[in-house]
Amino acid sequence: MAAVAVSHVFPLGSRLNRRGRLEVGGCDVVELAREFGTPAYVYAEDDMRARARAYTEAFRARTEHFEVIYAGKAFPSAAVFRLFADAGLSADVASGGELHLALAGGFHPAHLYMHGNNKTQAELDYAIEQGVGHIVVDSFDEIERLRGRPQRILLRVTPGIKPSTHSFIQTGQADSKFGFAVEDVPRAVEACRDAGLELCGLHAHIGSQILELGAFERIAEVLTGLGEWPLLNLGGGLGIAYTAADDPPSVADYVDALLRRAPEGVTVLCEPGRSLVGNAGVTIYTVGTVKRVAGRRTYVAVDGGMSDNLRPMLYGARYEAEIAGRFGGSDPCTIAGMHCESGDILVQDALLDDPRPGDVLVIPATGAYGHAMANNYNAVPRPPVIFCRDGEARVVVRRETYDDLTRREL
Ligand code: LLP
Repeated sequence: MAAVAVSHVFPLGSRLNRRGRLEVGGCDVVELAREFGTPAYVYAEDDMRARARAYTEAFRARTEHFEVIYAGKAFPSAAVFRLFADAGLSADVASGGELHLALAGGFHPAHLYMHGNNKTQAELDYAIEQGVGHIVVDSFDEIERLRGRPQRILLRVTPGIKPSTHSFIQTGQADSKFGFAVEDVPRAVEACRDAGLELCGLHAHIGSQILELGAFERIAEVLTGLGEWPLLNLGGGLGIAYTAADDPPSVADYVDALLRRAPEGVTVLCEPGRSLVGNAGVTIYTVGTVKRVAGRRTYVAVDGGMSDNLRPMLYGARYEAEIAGRFGGSDPCTIAGMHCESGDILVQDALLDDPRPGDVLVIPATGAYGHAMANNYNAVPRPPVIFCRDGEARVVVRRETYDDLTRREL
């Protein structure tokens, strides 16, 4: 059988090899499952590089004044910070822990932006000691915590834009825990000056997994209405395809939308997370039990679940699934996790080809906020992260062990 391409939901360069098995980054995922065990997060490194390039090329074609900032929360690992540092991106970190990982990945601190609606004094001190380029200040209290520090900052504004996405990941509306309301900005600017901070510009992030570009166009307009600033950081939020039916806007169209209403000469920053890493990663599992409920459905239970992918439970997020060695199929199946909750369902309505215990099952588009939100529910050790490139696989985050689970017990 000739190698066949797979849908755009899978990492760039994925295909079915001559044995009819999925290859990611040139590696046969059934063999990866054998070598590294399951569950595991498998990434095509070149996918992330290509998407970073798509961002920088899209901006470069339109302006000289831009900065692409990787939103590290989507996939906070030293290895991926290193990859994006090498690709010439900056990064944002949303906690002391993410800052630690970005520095471990070799990020120059000057290229880092520090976020958070409630940064502790210890996190602010850590960021300043390390020489973080900009702190994105979120509240009047934070201005006071920074008083007297000659730090470059941006002010985070909630621009009053409500994009269409899950309410948990809308952040730009006026009623939000984040940032300064538009009407408070003049007072915040005054407070920053009074506190001796070096205010370089404004920031807004309206939400995440947004598929219509209209809302993005308005950000620059709202921020520009709040004075003249050399830097405008317009946040992240471009949505990705989770199922083959999804058709998200291209990076070039997104960048167009961001720039459309930005004034000439202003440096425009954006902070993509999901759209840099989401489709680069898949999760591989092993099918354990197949339970056919007569006249109802087939439950295909795998060796992971809500500990490695919380998104279906938190946001009702929809995914696809395939048997890695037998793509296609028409058996309606519900992919169940192994956790002690009926809600631990990864995919409600997958179509599989005669699933059997021992099959390797793959769920695509888990590259963003999968590893990032992994947890130890039911004391399940968290999966490893495997980077694949040109047929070579390397573990960049090892699997947790039972000893890791007891290590913190005193
Ligand atoms: N900038 C800021 C200030 C953010 O808060 C975020 C995401 C981003 C950039 C990156 O947004 P992205 O390009 O990835 O959409 N756990 C949720 C997503 C939460 C996003 C939080 N902030 C999920 O799994 O859908």
